Amino acid sequence: MNANKTLTSEHYLDQNIYEKEKSDILYRSWCYVGHTSQIENTGDYLTTEIADESLIIIRAEGGELKGFYNVCRHRAHRLLKNNGNVRSITCPYHAWNYSIDGKLNHAKNANKMKGFKISDYCLSSFQVIDICNFIFVNLDDSAQHLGEQAQGFEEDLKEKVPFLDRLYAQPADKERPSVIRANWKIVVDNYLECYHCTKAHPAFVNLIDMEHYQTDVYNCWSRQYASTTNPDNKAYKFDKNSPVQDMCFWYIWPNTALGYVPGVEALFFSSIRSNSIDKTTRVGHWLVTEDTVLPDGFTEYMNKVLFTEDISICESVQMGIKSKSYKNGPFMIDPDHSGISETAVQSFHNLIRSAKSINSRAD
Ligand code: FES
Ligand SMILES: [Fe+2]
Repeated sequence: MNANKTLTSEHYLDQNIYEKEKSDILYRSWCYVGHTSQIENTGDYLTTEIADESLIIIRAEGGELKGFYNVCRHRAHRLLKNNGNVRSITCPYHAWNYSIDGKLNHAKNANKMKGFKISDYCLSSFQVIDICNFIFVNLDDSAQHLGEQAQGFEEDLKEKVPFLDRLYAQPADKERPSVIRANWKIVVDNYLECYHCTKAHPAFVNLIDMEHYQTDVYNCWSRQYASTTNPDNKAYKFDKNSPVQDMCFWYIWPNTALGYVPGVEALFFSSIRSNSIDKTTRVGHWLVTEDTVLPDGFTEYMNKVLFTEDISICESVQMGIKSKSYKNGPFMIDPDHSGISETAVQSFHNLIRSAKSINSRAD
């Protein structure tokens, strides 16, 4: 192990390592799944996936958010699809019926079976929390609360996002390209540095002043911040009187990306979900306020230019990393934490290397 070098290529290619990542990282850490405005009423639910697991997040009686594996306790059929509202959950296979609190209400013929205890078959649950109305789940019951794990993050978010309390979710942007033929860590690596921006994103570096771009790394989260930006730029033009004149991208271990861009009173949330060892989906949305106005050309630039540029980079790296000529590379670190430093990538790789120890109180 060399902390000055990137993870070796087998971390992106070896199926055994990938299986360990699922059990030690993806199933033991906090994953963003949505905003509370998406499931406001009793019985509102959404479904989501973390690697091989399908999950239900539902607003239970009394308003509490609950999380259940989307797996029937009888013979494992999926229970719910997409999102919606239910008064109870009925399995499509043999019609076992569960309350929205996860208790088994009814199983046909169970009363004829000696010793069958309906209370033995509640839906299996997992941790659900919200921070500033952003919902996170964790499949590890012993995991430390995200607020304790990512100390300082919530305060930072509140300080930098004055419109935080007014945000609500819009339907997911169907136009946005999101499937990436690369390992999930390559997508995270790419998000975590702007060393590549000058070459790979010419319009973006005209929008952002790279001379005032700062990367700061904390224990389980990091922040890229540009204090000055250019309203008259080659990406999209924005109002120089907009209340948002800076740019901030946050990262929360292991796969959450969020932030805002100049001239747009909105916050994006992306969850970088691993579908398989070499396929990743960015699941996400823009949270907006009643006052959000999207500048002309903004959506086209984000979807058709910026994300497309990054997807192409990630897919090229995935191809290159298979070469027998390549093992790993050096982190390019700027001690001043400027935008051209790979400090946050280095921190991410260190967290991967020591993943088990940070995810659970038990370790
Ligand atoms: S698998 Fe759900 S009721 Fe049988
Ligand atoms: Fe990029």
